[in-house]
Formats: sequence, C-alpha cells, structure tokens
Amino acid sequence: MSIVLGLESSCDETAAALVRGDRTIVAQRIASQDEAHRPYGGVVPEIAARAHAETLTPLIAAVMAEAGIGLDAVDAIAATAGPGLIGGVMVGLVTAKALAMAASKPLLAINHLEGHALSPRLADASLGFPYLLLLASGGHCQALLVEGVGAYRRLATTIDDALGEAFDKTAKILGLGYPGGPALEALAAHGDPAAVALPRPLLGSEEPHFSFAGLKSAVRRAHETARHADADLAAAFQQAAIDCVIDRLRHALARLDTTRLSALVVAGGVAANRAMRGALGALAGEQGLRFIAPPPALCTDNAAMIAWAGIERLALGQSDPLDCPARPRWPLDAEAEVVRGAGVKA
Ligand code: KG4
Ligand code: ZN
Repeated sequence: MSIVLGLESSCDETAAALVRGDRTIVAQRIASQDEAHRPYGGVVPEIAARAHAETLTPLIAAVMAEAGIGLDAVDAIAATAGPGLIGGVMVGLVTAKALAMAASKPLLAINHLEGHALSPRLADASLGFPYLLLLASGGHCQALLVEGVGAYRRLATTIDDALGEAFDKTAKILGLGYPGGPALEALAAHGDPAAVALPRPLLGSEEPHFSFAGLKSAVRRAHETARHADADLAAAFQQAAIDCVIDRLRHALARLDTTRLSALVVAGGVAANRAMRGALGALAGEQGLRFIAPPPALCTDNAAMIAWAGIERLALGQSDPLDCPARPRWPLDAEAEVVRGAGVKA
C-alpha cells in the first residue's frame, strides 16, 4: 500500500499531508496566512512566499511525527509545481526536491488544478471516469471533462473574474474583510435574494464561458445607492452567481453524452458554499447524474489532494525529474484556447 507525502504552497495556505493508497489521510496540517494578508484585503505574494518558507518545514516535521514514520517509509514526495504565486510554489517544490533527493524517493510535480480535479476521487472511491467537473476557486472557474488521470478537457473558463475572486471582491465591497467567500455566504443566509435585481452575465449565451465581473460591478453600484440591506445584496449576488454557474453547466451538459458520465462533480474553494452545492445537486438530479462534492475541508486548498494526485500518478508509473520547473502558469488542458483574463491566479 503506497503512502505519499504531499506539499501545497501555491497561494496563501501552507500545507503538508500523508495519504495512503486506500484513501486514508494519515496526518495533515494546514497553516492559513489569512491574518498576515488581512490588512491588505488580498494575498501579498512576498508575504506569502516568506510565510511558506518559515512554516513548511515545521509542518512536514509535525505530520511525520503524528504518523510516527520517517521519510524512508514514504513511497514518493508530491508537491504543487504550479500554477500559482511563483515564490510560494518554489518553496514547496524545492523542499520536495530536497526531500526526494535526500531519501532517494520519486518526485511528483503536481499541477494544483489536477489536485483539485482529482480530490473528489480521494473523497469517494466509487467515482470513476469520465466526470464533468466544476472547478471553482479563488483563481479559476472552469468546466472540465475529466476523462482520466492526466486527461482533462476544458469545456469552459471565465473570461474575467474567477468565481471565488468574485465572491471575495463582492465581500470587500460589503466590508466583509478577507477571505470573503465564507463571510458572504454567512451574510447571504439572512438576506432576500429577490430584494435586489442583479444581472446574470452570459446567461443563455451560445459561447460556453463564464463571466462574473459585471455582476460584481452591479453589486458595487447597488451598494453605492445605499438603498439595500447588505444581507440582501449578499443573497442577491450569491443567487445570481449560482444561476450563472448552473446555466453554463447546462450549456456544457447539452453538448455531452450524459449517459457516459459517471457524475457531476464540484471542487475548489467555492465548492464549500452550501447554496452552490444545493443548486448543483439539483442540476445533477434533473440530468439523471450522481452529484459528488468533497467535504469542504478537501475543497479549499490542502495538501491531501496533492498527495492523492501523487498517488494516482505513481500508480500509473509516473514521476518527474528533479530539475522540473516551477510554473506560475500551467493550464490543465494544454489544447484549450487562451481566453482573455482566465486563470490569472492559482
Ligand atoms: O481553492 P481555494 O482554497 O484556493 C484557490 O486555489 O484559489 O479557493 C479559495 C476561494 C476564495 O475565493 C474563497 O473566498 C472561496 O474559495 N470560498 C468560498 C467559500 N469558501 C471558500 N466562496 C463562496 N462560499 C464559500 N463558503
Ligand atoms: Zn486551489
């Protein structure tokens, strides 16, 4: 039974985890940098890189100690090699290379998005390929057809803001602080989504993509009139965002043979949103598909998903050379056309 050490450091979470081939998360630690970035209302790359450098090694030591094993007992070291903030990615990848070299273990340079894309298979052993994945995080909003490990077809992406980014920016407009997604969801629970009329960008459009920038700007304008309660604005924003996501996924599903799909799956930080999960579950039911969402702790950035992607690739006999690069940009689907504004961050 393989056991892999995974490291994650591409944005503002420093994380280490040991995961076994039978899907047991043997030990994991996540150190959030939220406090360090809060005064700036967003992630400051230099602060992030320094915090990763200070925190990662003690986290690895803690995980190994909790599991009661040494590096000799590990089958491979997996680390996020991109996309993301390059300083942080380099900290994690260089650390993984050093450990792999010192312990003579294979290195797996993992695409952070592949970590998110395969995380539902860590959560649910019965999830087979292919599945339609909504990957919605602070840096991305994509619909992907996951056909196998390493086989990802991007069906749609955002032409401006990522979905989590739109939640964060809207939360900032409402004075909710950083990170805004969870705070906005909590406030929305007390509001009436019908109280404020907001646009739904690209709803019903022939093109496949997502767009959220106009929605966020509409919230800003509505907020400036001071005629609406913040809770109503939050609820209206969340509902409009959900309506857009569901419409775009319907567009994708209409062009797929759904009888071939094993499930509709959601991953990435925004998948922690309960209203979003509810709407996606309803869409899946309507299409006769299973709906799978990993538990919220596996949806936001973590190292268990990186270790799991490592386990999946190791099982296929894959590993990466010690001179493999850290990649600030790294599309999952190399064939996908470049769309303006998409995938700027991790
Ligand atoms: O996947 P993730 O942890 O990091 C990235 O790779 O970006 O996603 C973080 C994003 C943030 O934008 C955060 O506001 C959003 O996920 N998020 C949420 C919720 N929890 C996290 N958005 C809406 N509702 C939530 N409950
Ligand atoms: Zn992420």
